[in-house]
Amino acid sequence: MPCILLTGATGYIASHTWLALQAAGYSVVGIDNFVNSSPKVLERLHTLGGQVPQFVQGDVRHALALDRAFELGRDQFGGVDAMVHFAALKAVGESTQIPLDYFENNLGGLLSVAQALKRHSPDGASKPLVFSSSATVYGNPERLPIREDAPLTSTNPYGSTKLIGENILRDLEQCDPSWHIAYLRYFNPVGAHPSGQIGEDPRGIPNNLMPYVAQVAVGKRPHLNVFGKDYDTPDGTGVRDYIHVCDLAEGHVAAVRYLLDKRASLTVNLGTGQGYSVLDVVHAYERASGRPVPVEFAPRRAGDVAACYADAGLAAKLLGWRARLGLDDMCTDSWRWQHLNPQGFEG
Ligand code: NAD
Ligand code: UD1
Repeated sequence: MPCILLTGATGYIASHTWLALQAAGYSVVGIDNFVNSSPKVLERLHTLGGQVPQFVQGDVRHALALDRAFELGRDQFGGVDAMVHFAALKAVGESTQIPLDYFENNLGGLLSVAQALKRHSPDGASKPLVFSSSATVYGNPERLPIREDAPLTSTNPYGSTKLIGENILRDLEQCDPSWHIAYLRYFNPVGAHPSGQIGEDPRGIPNNLMPYVAQVAVGKRPHLNVFGKDYDTPDGTGVRDYIHVCDLAEGHVAAVRYLLDKRASLTVNLGTGQGYSVLDVVHAYERASGRPVPVEFAPRRAGDVAACYADAGLAAKLLGWRARLGLDDMCTDSWRWQHLNPQGFEG
């Protein structure tokens, strides 16, 4: 079976994708510099996947580190057949504080990854690459649900790295048709592996809703600040398209399969198509955990939109993929991870 090289391999989404690819029969090689993940993920991947993870510790901006990952793929599995590029810094607020670091890491990393894939592909051979993009490229959406042909914009440096990243890759494709790229625009990934052994382990105070709610439920934080109660939504709080990380991982398996079979590019939303409000999430989490999640209403968060959810039809049509898990599954699996690992991987 083909071998897939994952960058950012010990991160939240990549670690779930690693297991999903292995379960689908693919071989996997990973690279990560642990800037936002723990080496302990590798022990958990070993236990859950039943195979020693083939892994290089290194920075994707360093050509030699990527070369080592390609060599590992060649030595262990006869060569790398496709790449999934997850490695990036992802905190919107932080990106407004240190924008140059975001451009350097996310765009420098992307260029280095593309150079390495080119370097390790024979002339004219297909270069299949999956790019972790984001619904953030839609900015403040004009129409809901959001289709892939909606106008694109960026509202912060992190979002710019995703939009510019997409544009760089589209230019590459234009210049050389052997680039086959899957632009996957994720909505709001949440939840954890059903084993409770891997999940999202944010450092410091969580920026995103579900990890914050999880820490309130487990007693680490006293209450959730709900940012805004006067949005034009059914209950006045922000509405988002939360997607279970295991469904998202399966979306990557489908995208890799598409690239290898069809040798063509595609741009798709990976979401459920269903929007839930902040209070919907709070209530679902209370049901899943059996714990109270006290809330306090706070002003709107700068840059937030009222509602954002996907038209998930194109991914279903092109990839034959649809999200299967609902909000209750997301909360149940998040809670299992949270209460088995109250200190995350460092516990
Ligand atoms: P994450 O931080 O858990 O994973 C990213 C991984 O990349 C981390 O393990 C980090 O150590 C690694 N990394 C970062 N820079 C690196 C570098 N220069 N060299 C090597 N490794 C490096 O984040 P995630 O949530 O799993 O996100 C994965 C991808 O999906 C990112 O590109 C992110 O922008 C994108 N994305 C995430 C979300 C989300 O809400 N989680 C939504 C849309 C898009
Ligand atoms: C975040 C990112 C966005 C990314 C998206 C997908 C920010 C500002 N934006 O946005 O770039 O594409 O994730 O992963 O980080 N909320 C609270 N209290 C909290 C935290 C959040 O009320 O403590 C609310 C927010 O106002 C929002 C909803 O919960 O209405 C979801 O927030 P969050 O999880 O941060 O996701 P996004 O806002 O979609």
